[in-house]
Parts: sequence; C-alpha cells; structure tokens
Amino acid sequence: MTDREFIMQMQPWFGDEEKQSLNDYMDGGGFITEFKQTEAFENQLAEYVGAKHCIVVNNGTISLSLAALACGLQAGDEVIVPNYTMVATPNSLKMFGIEPVFVDVEADSLCLDIALVREAINEKTKAIMLMPANGRYPSVGIDAFERLAAEHNLLLLEDAAQSLGSHYPDGRHIGMAGMAGSFSFSAPKIISTGQGGCVVTNDDDVADKVRKLKDFGRTSGGNDYHESLGLNFKFTDIQACIGIEQMKKLPWRVERKKEIYRRYQSGLAHIDEITFFVQDLTYTTPWFIDVIAQSRDQLVAFLKTQNIGTRVMYPPINKQPAYNIVGEHPVSNLIGASGLWLPSAAQLSDDTIDYICHSIEKFYC
Ligand SMILES: Cc1ncc(COP(=O)(O)O)c(C=O)c1O
Repeated sequence: MTDREFIMQMQPWFGDEEKQSLNDYMDGGGFITEFKQTEAFENQLAEYVGAKHCIVVNNGTISLSLAALACGLQAGDEVIVPNYTMVATPNSLKMFGIEPVFVDVEADSLCLDIALVREAINEKTKAIMLMPANGRYPSVGIDAFERLAAEHNLLLLEDAAQSLGSHYPDGRHIGMAGMAGSFSFSAPKIISTGQGGCVVTNDDDVADKVRKLKDFGRTSGGNDYHESLGLNFKFTDIQACIGIEQMKKLPWRVERKKEIYRRYQSGLAHIDEITFFVQDLTYTTPWFIDVIAQSRDQLVAFLKTQNIGTRVMYPPINKQPAYNIVGEHPVSNLIGASGLWLPSAAQLSDDTIDYICHSIEKFYC
C-alpha cells in the first residue's frame, strides 16, 4: 500500500481564470444560452486550427453526426470507420441510418490501414471517416487518403476528438484534411468545457447546414422561419467562458503533454513488457499515454493497489454487443486485449510520473 493520494487516469484542469470569467459573465446578466461568448470561442478555435468556419455544439458525438449529414450522407450510405475507436465514431452514423463499415487499424499509428480501406470500398461506400488516434496520423501520410478518396469520389471526414494540438507534417491542423472535422471538449480532453464539441470546415455550404441542423433548421438566430429540419444541439455561453480560458492554456498543455510522454518513454524504456506505439512528437500531441502491456489486467489490479488509476483501451467495436459483426481484426483485437492508458493528465508532476514508472517496474521485475 502507499499513502499517496489516488492518481486518476485523467482529470480535467480548471483554474482561477475560468472561475473569474464565469463570475464576470454572471454579473453581466447574460442569457447563459449560446451567444457572444460562444461566438468568441468559435473564432478562437477556428483561428487555432486554421478553419474558415467552426460551429460549436453540445458534444463531440453529435458534431460527427452533423458533419456527416451536412456533407450529404444519408440513410443507407456506407462509411468506412476504424474498428479501433471510441464507439461515438460509428454510433454518430448508425443512429441516423448510415452504415459504418469496420476496418482494422495500423499497428504503429492506430489509424485506418489504407490497404484494408481500399479492399473495403464498394459501390455503396460514400465516405471514409478517419480517427487520428491520440493525435496520430496514418503512416502512409494523409495525402494518400486524400488521393484515395478523390480516386473513388468519396468524402473524407475526420473524427479529431483526440487531436486538438496535433498537426500533419505539412502544417495543417489535424481535422482540416477532409470536408469536415470534429473535436470534443468532454472532461478527459486536452481542453474541456465539461461537454462540448465542434465541427470545423472550409466549406461555406457545410458550415451553413451544420448551423441550421443544430438550431431547429433556423435560417438565422432568433427567427422562427424553417427552410429545413433541425434539432437543438446548442452550446451555452457558460461553457464558452470556460472554453475561452482553456484555449489560452492550450499551448502550454501541448508542450507539457509531450514532456509527460517523453518522461514515460524513458522511465519505461528498460521494461520489455511495455511497448509504446509510434508517436511523432514534433507534430502531434499525445492526448493519453497509450501502451501495449503484457499481463495487462493483472498490471491494472496491481497499480490500483498502488493508488494508480488506469483505463483499458477501447475493445474492437465489431465485437461489441451493440454491433456484433463477424470478423477478426488483429490489431484492434490486440489493443482490446492488451492496450492500456496510463495516467495522462497535464497536471501530473514529474515525481508522480516517476512513481508510476517505478510501480510498473515493481510489477514486472
Ligand atoms: C475518437 C472520439 N470520437 C468521439 C468522441 C465523443 O466525444 P463526446 O464525448 O464529446 O461526445 C470521443 C470522446 O472520447 C472520442 O475519443
């Protein structure tokens, strides 16, 4: 046992700046629902990722659905998605009758394997939805996916929920390669508004459609004229106040996440039972510390006795009861059996990381 406080696998991080901003907002008598603060948050995000448009919505799942619908996908269309991803990726499509088709990921980048994508394309395929896992990009380069999509007249969409602060080597922010990209601001993300997400795009028509879809099909705020159908997926200015302050802290967090990753890499380098994936720390920012760990479940139990929280990585989606699709996808199977997220919060101290590495060493040696 240890007398250390429990180390959570992930924890959002808010400070006095967020509190002050909320106080000021409340003193100003705003309506709380989305308005000027939300607009300012959208502008800040658009500038950061280099997008012409950013539309904030209430989470990073519905942002995927709205991106897909705004790009013209409809019930019966097929979209190729990774078999290793958060279940929101396929659910965002399936809930609207769009069929996710699961393809395995590469063992090094954990992004879609382009050779398998190529094999899966058929006449019903309308799009490829990439999930840049932990901020990574496919080993063949994003341009190979752009060429493949163009060759088959497919839409390219990016579920960049885990990728704020990550770029492609050509300088574009991840999420900006396809027709639309999506981010999440849920509690474990590099910045958080508790819940929240956004769609980014350079396409005026897609942006306009997303804005209508999230606001009952309204043509502009406040009026009750509806040319098209929509629901209510709006944000709040309260969340935007938090988001604006979180965004100011993003550049520091990007650097700290990279330092944390490097410290784990050197602290665990001599342990053969732990394997890191490939992560390009020049261009990308690891959201979580993800590893393949031998005897993973026993390690998880041991680390718990040391007051260290971990989280097992996503299981292969085709084997989730909600999907239950026959087929073996070796890389996602391996991740499901042995993938582990170690404590990854930006506020972890070096001393805590060293303690975690020593605890892992104690388990294996
Ligand atoms: C890859 C991916 N897509 C989508 C989501 C869903 O985002 P949200 O929780 O904001 O709905 C997540 C959240 O973890 C995610 O990791």
